[in-house]
Amino acid sequence: MEKNIEQIQEQALKELEVAADVESIKDLSILYLGRKGKVTQFLRSIADLPPEQKPEAGKKANETKRLLDAKFKKAIKQLETASSESEGCIDVSLPGRVVRQGSLHPITQIAQQICDIFIKLGFDIAEGPEVETDYYNFEALNIPKNHPARDMQDTFYVSKNIVLRTHTSPTQPRIMEQQKPPVRIIAPGKVYRCDSDLTHTPMFHQVEGLLVDKGISFGDLKGVLTTFVHQMFDTETNLRFRPSYFPFTEPSAEVDIRCVICRGAGCRVCSHTGWLEVLGSGMVHPAVFENVGYDTTRYSGFAFGMGVERIAMLKYRIDDIRKYFENDLRFLRQF
Ligand code: DAH
Repeated sequence: MEKNIEQIQEQALKELEVAADVESIKDLSILYLGRKGKVTQFLRSIADLPPEQKPEAGKKANETKRLLDAKFKKAIKQLETASSESEGCIDVSLPGRVVRQGSLHPITQIAQQICDIFIKLGFDIAEGPEVETDYYNFEALNIPKNHPARDMQDTFYVSKNIVLRTHTSPTQPRIMEQQKPPVRIIAPGKVYRCDSDLTHTPMFHQVEGLLVDKGISFGDLKGVLTTFVHQMFDTETNLRFRPSYFPFTEPSAEVDIRCVICRGAGCRVCSHTGWLEVLGSGMVHPAVFENVGYDTTRYSGFAFGMGVERIAMLKYRIDDIRKYFENDLRFLRQF
C-alpha cells in the first residue's frame, strides 16, 4: 500500500516534468488531486486498511498531496511569469526597428562621380603612394630643390627625402615610367599640406588626370575639361581658361567656372567675381617627359588636377570644408 502512494507520486512528478503548458499541468492536478484523482482515491482507501497501518499511510498520502499540490502550483506560476515577461520584451504589434544603412562619405561620392565621368571618356584609374619620395613629388615634376615653386605647397616632411605627397601629380611620372604612350589615366587620392582654415584642411583629396599621345593639343585639353564640367555641374556652366603657372606644365591654365550659386552675378562664394576656380591644368612640360624617357618630338599631352572637396563644396553649397571631416552624423546622413 505504501509503495503504491510512492509510485503515484513518482508517476505524477514524471508527468509534470514533461508538461509543457499551464493547461496540461491543470489536467495533471485534476488527475491526481481532483475529487476522483489518484491521490484522493488513495486517501479514501486508507479507511479499509488494518488500523495499525492507517497512521503511516495517512501521513504519507497527505505528504504526497501537499507536495504535488505545491509543485503543480509552482510550475503553473513559473510558466505564467515567463510568458508575461516575454510579452513585455516583444510587442509583436509594434513596427519593426529599422536598421540604418550606412552610406559612402560625401567626399567619396564626389570622387567617384568625378572618376566615373573620366572613365566614360576612356581614362583608367591609377593610384600612387601617400608617403612619397621628394623625387616623384617634386623633382620629376620639374620642381628642383630650392626652386621657389616649392613654396606653393606647404609640405609635411617625413625625412629629408620623404614627404607626405602634397598633390596627386607624382602619379604622372610613376605611371609614365611604367607605361609607354598612349596614356590616359586619372588618379584619385589623399594629399597633405600644412594648412588649416575655413577652406583648407591638412588632409584633402585630389583627382589627377593625364593624357599623352601623338598630336595632343590644348584643344583636346579644353574639350575634355569642358565635357567634364558640363557633366559634373550642368551644360549651362561656362568655363574660362586663365593663364597660370605650374612647373610641370607649359602652357598652364587655371580653369574657372561660372559661379554655380549666383550664375555670374557676383556673390560671397565667388568673391563677387562671378567665377570660381575649380582646377589646374596645362600641357605636360617637356622636362617631365624627359625625366620619364618619353620622346618629346613624338608625344605631347595634357594634365590636370582638382580638389575633390572644392567640387563637393560647390555642388553641395557648403562653404566650410571642415564640416566634411568632423564626422557629425547629422551632417553626413544628408548625402
Ligand atoms: N598639382 C597641382 C596642385 O596641387 C594641380 C595641378 C595643376 C595638377 C596643373 C596638374 C596640372 O596636373 O597640370 O596645385
